[in-house]
Amino acid sequence: MKIEKTIAIYNFKGGVGKTTSAYNLACGWSKKYKVLVIDCDPQCNLTNTILPNHKGKNSVYAYLREFVHNSIPSIEPIKINSKLHIIPGHYNMIDLESNNQFIEFGTIMMQRFLKQIKADYDIVLLDCPSYFGKTVKSVIANVDGLLIPATPDIFALKGAMKLMKHIKELKRSQKLNVFGIFLNRFKKDLIYHRKIRVVAKRIFGSLILPQIIRNSVRIGETTDPRFVRDEDDNPQNDVVNDFLALGEMIIRKTAPQDIENFTLPTLVKTSASQDSKRTTHPGINRFRESLQSFGVSSA
Ligand SMILES: Nc1ncnc2c1ncn2[C@@H]1O[C@H](COP(=O)(O)OP(=O)(O)OP(=O)(O)O)[C@@H](O)[C@H]1O
Ligand SMILES: [Mg+2]
Repeated sequence: MKIEKTIAIYNFKGGVGKTTSAYNLACGWSKKYKVLVIDCDPQCNLTNTILPNHKGKNSVYAYLREFVHNSIPSIEPIKINSKLHIIPGHYNMIDLESNNQFIEFGTIMMQRFLKQIKADYDIVLLDCPSYFGKTVKSVIANVDGLLIPATPDIFALKGAMKLMKHIKELKRSQKLNVFGIFLNRFKKDLIYHRKIRVVAKRIFGSLILPQIIRNSVRIGETTDPRFVRDEDDNPQNDVVNDFLALGEMIIRKTAPQDIENFTLPTLVKTSASQDSKRTTHPGINRFRESLQSFGVSSA
C-alpha cells in the first residue's frame, strides 16, 4: 500500500538532531517503503553522511534554480539502494535566501519541485537548516506535516514553542500541520530530562510523541557509512531501535495534527509563599522558575 507522506524535519534550534533523525528514520523506513530524502541545508550534513564523496551534482539547488528560470528540469535522485534515494544538498542553497525571485516565488517553486517527484515515493523526507528563511518556509508550506525534534532542554523547548507560534501565523494563509514533536538525546536516568518531558507534555499535549530517542554514545555508528548500520546485523544498538519505533509511530499516525486550535499555555503564577512551603532546594526552585518562564506551573 502506498502511503504518500511528505515530511519536513525542522526546529529552529540548531543541533537538536534533525539530520541524525532524518538519516535514521529514512534508513528504517526504507526497509518497507520507497523513501526519498532531500537535503535542504547548505551545511549538507545529510549529503555528506550518505554520499561522502559527492561533488555537488544533481542537487536540490540545481533543480530549484531551474524552476527560478522557469524551466522544468528532469529530476534524477541518486539511488543509495532500490528503496532509498537522495537529492543532495548544495552549499549555494544559502544564496537562494537573497534571490529576489526565490523570495517572491520560492513557495510555488518548491511546490512544483515536490509535485514532480513525490508520486514516485511512499515517503519524501526533507532535512531543513535551522534558520527560518525562505527555504524552510517554502518547504513547510508544501509538506503534509512537520516533524520537530527537540533535545530535553529549555532552549530546544523554547525553540519548538516559537516555531509553533510562527507556524500558526503562517497557517492563516497556508496548510501547515505537525506530525509531532519528539525528544532526542534523552537520558532516562536523569531527573531533569524526565521533568522536561513532563513540561513538554504539559505545553504541547498530544503533539509530543511518546517515543523518545535516547542519548547514545553509539549514535556515530548509525550515521557513519563505514559501519554496518543494518539493525539485523546490529541488534544491540538501542538508539537504532528507538528510531525504528519512532518511524513506526509516525507511519501509524494516519494524518498530521491540525494545530489550528492549539494554544500555548498561559502563565500560571505561583506565589512566593506557596513555593517556599514546597521546598527550599535551590535546584528545584530554579526549575520552577524556568517552568514559569514557559508559562507553566510546576504543581
Ligand atoms: N540520540 C543521540 N545521541 C547522541 N548524540 C546525538 C543524538 N542525536 C544527535 N546527536 C549528535 O548531536 C549532534 C547534532 O546532531 P545533528 O547534526 O543531527 O543536529 P541538527 O539539528 O541537524 O544540527 P544543525 O542545526 O546544525 O543542522 C551530532 O554530533 C550528533 O551526532
Ligand atoms: Mg542538520
